[in-house]
Amino acid sequence: MKTTPNLTTPGLAALGALLVIAPAQAQDAVTGAQIVQSECAVCHAVGGEAKSPEAKAPRFADVAALPSTTELSLKVFLRSSHKNMPNILLEPEEIDAVSAYILGLRNKR
Ligand code: HEC
Repeated sequence: MKTTPNLTTPGLAALGALLVIAPAQAQDAVTGAQIVQSECAVCHAVGGEAKSPEAKAPRFADVAALPSTTELSLKVFLRSSHKNMPNILLEPEEIDAVSAYILGLRNKR
């Protein structure tokens, strides 16, 4: 009887990758909330706070309310460097999640 150990191993690895990626896409705004809490909240008001901890950093609710703010403008901003902001390196899927989170603040107003 032949055994086929090499067929099962890559199959499981692919399944594992799917399990990691799928929830991130399904819950963009939730993942975005986690990212902004850990990466952005030291400077920005990320939710309903009245003021940002760092006075020069705009509240995300105010960013969301700007007519010029779109999914594209946020994605471009988060991929480029800015003088008053540390260059936080986000993965493309993290940028998607953070953009979705900020735009989600607009819908709550
Ligand atoms: C160390 C403080 C700091 C951190 C951390 C920080 N920011 Fe900022 N951010 C700023 C400041 C200050 C500005 C205003 C930039 C300027 O005027 O040049 C800004 C501007 C922005 C803007 C532009 C708003 C506009 O006018 O269009 C966005 C969007 C933004 N930040 C998103 C984020 C996100 C998302 C994170 C986390 C991944 C983050 N920032 C982390 C300080 C910070």
